[in-house]
Amino acid sequence: MSTRESFYTDHWREIEDERITRYEQMFVWRDQQLVLLEGAELKPGQRVLDIGCGPGFFAGGLAGIVGTTGHVDGVDINARFISDATNRNDKPNLTFHHVTDHRLPFADGTFDRVIMKNVLEYVPDVSVTLKEVYRVTKLGGRAHIIDSDWGFLLVEPWGKDRTEAFFNAAAPAFNERYIGRKAAGALRSAGFAPAKVKISAFADQVGNGLNMLTNMVGYIRTFSTMPIDTATGMLEEARAAVSDGRFLFCLPQFLVTAERTE
Ligand SMILES: C[S@@+](CC[C@H](N)C(=O)[O-])C[C@H]1O[C@@H](n2cnc3c(N)ncnc32)[C@H](O)[C@@H]1O
Repeated sequence: MSTRESFYTDHWREIEDERITRYEQMFVWRDQQLVLLEGAELKPGQRVLDIGCGPGFFAGGLAGIVGTTGHVDGVDINARFISDATNRNDKPNLTFHHVTDHRLPFADGTFDRVIMKNVLEYVPDVSVTLKEVYRVTKLGGRAHIIDSDWGFLLVEPWGKDRTEAFFNAAAPAFNERYIGRKAAGALRSAGFAPAKVKISAFADQVGNGLNMLTNMVGYIRTFSTMPIDTATGMLEEARAAVSDGRFLFCLPQFLVTAERTE
């Protein structure tokens, strides 16, 4: 049984079927995500690591960019994501690995690029993870973080106060909700050169964010951090708003890139 203290990681190690299905919809590769990768300057021939690769669709997109002269390795703590991704994979330049903690099964200086997309908010200790990232990055290679910062979130028609209350109630599912603003400093502390930071914001008016909000209602139900009728009522309100054109969801992504120079 997961405790509130360890739920942020436990809820990734064990995922019920219904949530797996939602993730397979949420984490598909879309060409519009290329903008999130600009700072990484991915090129054919590079060796790339995708930490927290989930169902592996994003890693598949990366493998398409680096081509057959390059290679992508995806790692994740969820064993089912890794076995499903391995079974689906038809690319010779893509490999998936199950990991159990921050330790990466690769030699020092293996990778030209290490990508971390929406994973650092869930690791037990960002500094420990980034030291390991530094170890496996080549001299002249880059770490590239794509992550959220819950201080910049908006969901309409909920308004600011109710949106904050809802996300605070879902907090047990996250270890570091403000990783977006902290990522550059954390990379510097791990030994990387000063990072470049960009922020990319996309306005969702069609309801893509509903899957995430649905997962959050599940977390709220688990921990009774808000009356469940209030949470489900808010979700219904958001669903109805998609139909009548009042829905707006925006969770800006911090794009943080730093080079290993020593
Ligand atoms: C929000 S999902 C992002 C998936 C994928 N990066 C994407 O954006 O499409 C977070 C992923 O990180 C994985 N994860 C969580 N904690 C991790 C850890 N300590 N080490 C590696 N992966 C982890 C989860 O299992 C999950 O697949």
